[in-house]
Amino acid sequence: MQKMWTEIDAYIDSHLIPEDPILLQTLKNTEDNGFPDHLAVAPNQGMLLQMLIQMNQCKRVLELGTFAAYSTIWLARALPEDGYILTIEGRDTHAALAQENINHAKLPQTIELQVGRAADVLKALPQDFEAFDFIFIDADKQSYSEYLELSLNLSHSGTIIVLDNVVRAGEIINSKNQKPSIEGIRDMFVALKNHPKILSCTALQTVGSKGHDGFALVLVK
Ligand code: DHB
Ligand code: MG
Repeated sequence: MQKMWTEIDAYIDSHLIPEDPILLQTLKNTEDNGFPDHLAVAPNQGMLLQMLIQMNQCKRVLELGTFAAYSTIWLARALPEDGYILTIEGRDTHAALAQENINHAKLPQTIELQVGRAADVLKALPQDFEAFDFIFIDADKQSYSEYLELSLNLSHSGTIIVLDNVVRAGEIINSKNQKPSIEGIRDMFVALKNHPKILSCTALQTVGSKGHDGFALVLVK
């Protein structure tokens, strides 16, 4: 099935996703430096993130898990010129690549890249740090429920939280798989259920060039 999913994504992209030299350069630079491309969102997923931001006229965005900043550039593209993104990456090598790609993009929005474990960086923010309008959680999967709680503390009523990779080719329902990354996603589902700070949430499976996976979507109460 993977071949067909990839071909259909290519068909969708060729019709609906305009070629963007900066995003193409970001992918090329990532590959040229020997980093895997499967960690990045697909172009049609990047567009979905962009549209969610546009629909809600968000100005302040938080991203956990920058990787090569491909998604970061999609997020920035959706913001007005005075928009702000705080993006956090745990691995030095990824952060160096991301900073290079961000510099190269020369976008007017402010993109602040911090290196460190996302939970530590978030806990170190000042108490009065202004809440985010949109949060994309895409860092280490074993910490998703912790990231969700920290994100909710940095949200206001109406903040949207998107969590990537919540299906993992169905491994979430394979009870024999007890990898921390999979257990982390299961803990996230438990945390989402009846959470007092959440107005509504859902999760959607996706198939495409990045395989079979899914997003969870949260609207903060
Ligand atoms: C992995 C991480 C991601 O965020 C993703 O979108 C795909 C794969 C991974 O760690 O394998
Ligand atoms: Mg991801």
